[in-house]
Amino acid sequence: MPQQNSPAGQSGDFPPFAQRHLISIADLKQHEIIDLLDRAEQMIAISRQERKSLPTLSGKTQINLFFEPSTRTQSSFEIAGKRLGALVVNMSVKTSSVSKGETLIDTAATLNAMRPDVLVVRHSAAGAVELLSQKVGCSVVNAGDGAHEHPTQALLDALTIRNHKGTLAGLTVAICGDIANSRVARSNLLLLGALHVRTRVIAPRNLLPAGIENLATEVFTDMEAGLKGADVVMMLRLQHERANGKMIPSVREYYRFYGLDEAKLAYAKSDAIVMHPGPMNRGVEIDPAIADGSRSVITDQVEMGVAVRMAVLDALLPARNDA
Ligand code: NCD
Repeated sequence: MPQQNSPAGQSGDFPPFAQRHLISIADLKQHEIIDLLDRAEQMIAISRQERKSLPTLSGKTQINLFFEPSTRTQSSFEIAGKRLGALVVNMSVKTSSVSKGETLIDTAATLNAMRPDVLVVRHSAAGAVELLSQKVGCSVVNAGDGAHEHPTQALLDALTIRNHKGTLAGLTVAICGDIANSRVARSNLLLLGALHVRTRVIAPRNLLPAGIENLATEVFTDMEAGLKGADVVMMLRLQHERANGKMIPSVREYYRFYGLDEAKLAYAKSDAIVMHPGPMNRGVEIDPAIADGSRSVITDQVEMGVAVRMAVLDALLPARNDA
């Protein structure tokens, strides 16, 4: 076990991390996922100290390149980089409707010339972050690409679950709502699957992605059946912006059948925790009383987010002696 309370100014001993980029959970081996969660554990301790800093990224430049608006994820990466001593620059880019491909590659070349050490990228197109990683000379972290992946979200979710339940082994995690459009669901299914955690997805038929039966998860269209015996209830936002046309007949009907309220939460285990990646549509997928209630760990997820992103940056950018 790694040391949990390393003194300030020193990160614990971990073997070198073999990956240069973090594009997708699918690229990580089981031991690499556990390594990142263990590193994040140390970062929680550091973030709870009065002096919340480590010098591991001092002298390095991190550029947050967000082609899609984001408050939570961008500030989380910004705080993570700053706590590790990096120079952090935020760039929000509005994609031109004309030639998105060209814009992306041009932007990559421009930023690359500024010699950053890491680019943290969010883009509305699946695959855009990987493409960009092939055009630059630095590490690239995927902060969400279309409906493809959001790896740091899955890592922070796993860390939150592990800390609340003590372990991930033997748990049943139910992911509910707009699975079809969710990069969060996809990354979580991959991560939990790699750690042999039992997963279920619960959604109306039209919000389940094609081919879901082929993934190692149980599929439900009914909340009562799907939540029965669940240790973790993970709610997802209805992704209006990614839906082509109308997703649901009415918000009221969606809430009635799929919104998490007291009555539906009662189907899960009595000690089940409630999660949501944010931003929440209160009264659409979740009752505000549940979101703010004692079973909710939603603000813990935000805290774990900073720790996980510190861990990822620390792992991808090891301190090297410039000879
Ligand atoms: C998620 C995202 O952007 O994929 N949110 C986030 O990272 N804070 C989930 C969502 O948008 O619903």
